[in-house]
Amino acid sequence: MDVVSFRKDTVLSDVHLLLPNTRHLMTRLNGVNQPVFVSKFKILWDVEEKEAACSELTPERSEDGSRSSESEAPLDDDGDLDVARRPRDASPYRERVCPIILRQATGTSTDGHGEEDEDDDEEEEEAARQDVIRIEHTMATPLEDVGKQIWRGAFLLADFILSRPAEFEGVTVLELGAGTGLTSVVMATQAKMVYCTDVGQDLLSMCQRNVTINRHLTEAKASEVRVRQLDWTGDDFCTDAEVAFAWTEDEVADMHNETSIIMAADVCYDDDLTDGLFRMLYRITSNLQHTSTVYISIEKRMNFTLRHMEVVCEEYNQFRHCLDELRDMEDGKMQYSVEQVLSPFPQFFQYERVEHLELWKVSARQK
Ligand SMILES: C[S@@+](CC[C@H](N)C(=O)[O-])C[C@H]1O[C@@H](n2cnc3c(N)ncnc32)[C@H](O)[C@@H]1O
Repeated sequence: MDVVSFRKDTVLSDVHLLLPNTRHLMTRLNGVNQPVFVSKFKILWDVEEKEAACSELTPERSEDGSRSSESEAPLDDDGDLDVARRPRDASPYRERVCPIILRQATGTSTDGHGEEDEDDDEEEEEAARQDVIRIEHTMATPLEDVGKQIWRGAFLLADFILSRPAEFEGVTVLELGAGTGLTSVVMATQAKMVYCTDVGQDLLSMCQRNVTINRHLTEAKASEVRVRQLDWTGDDFCTDAEVAFAWTEDEVADMHNETSIIMAADVCYDDDLTDGLFRMLYRITSNLQHTSTVYISIEKRMNFTLRHMEVVCEEYNQFRHCLDELRDMEDGKMQYSVEQVLSPFPQFFQYERVEHLELWKVSARQK
């Protein structure tokens, strides 16, 4: 039996923690012995489905728009907060995670052949559905592997794309820090070409598999997703043909000539990486042929720190600082405007759209 690697410093995305009505089926071990799971995400095209998803997963708002859970916190006789405990099985969205091994990377089944064939038939049927995205991912990874999980910011950006099909129709897009590739796949249902980028061969291989297993969703548009390596902390596009997921010279040229949209979901969680990301954004936007728009989703993760003796979100502050620097930049060459996307847009995926999830828009043009 292969050794499954778990480490102490692991993080688990809320997306996987709260996956509705899903048994978590481990399908294989990846190249570094982490269990790989497949999750299916239904695109809620139907208005009623959308409303149900939002009301089930979002705390209710009172008439003045405030969250009822925050504004009307019940107090006991002494004025202390009276916390009602959630019954263990009250929510279908908090199922216990019980990994079941279906088969290992070699393709051998743990059960009889008949069952494997049935699974395959079911999978083929599902694979053809136009309203289901299937994503391979891992769970509870160490910090350096967070891209192998799906984060809520990916869904927020995906919702935004599906709510503005005209804006993304036929465009060329560059995604930074794409992780499993979910947002790139959604973008390819509208765009002509998506350069889906990240770092690490194991992650990029998983991302490529996800692009491949969802190809039917983008076939109608004849759009393409190319999974490529792009490290924000590096200086350049890797064009070494010996390196997996390297760019060709033609692709580098095409990306610079055609890209008008850049997007990144949940990529600002470390100050040095955020600095690197913004340096890369400046370099790329100032070398593009077109004016461009950058969409970045971020989740404010609040933490109590002993250093500040209060609840803060340093990564978010750094992100805002970098946005301000970009907006105020006076290099004589580029001009940036920055705004938060505040107008509500519908929810096409079932996840908790918490209020700490934000979407930012940066417009870049050469002077
Ligand atoms: C929290 S994950 C988000 C993944 C995906 N966008 C999502 O929302 O599900 C952050 C992503 O940034 C990527 N990343 C971190 N450092 C990077 C770097 N120096 N260059 C490129 N990507 C990087 C990680 O590999 C990871 O995929």
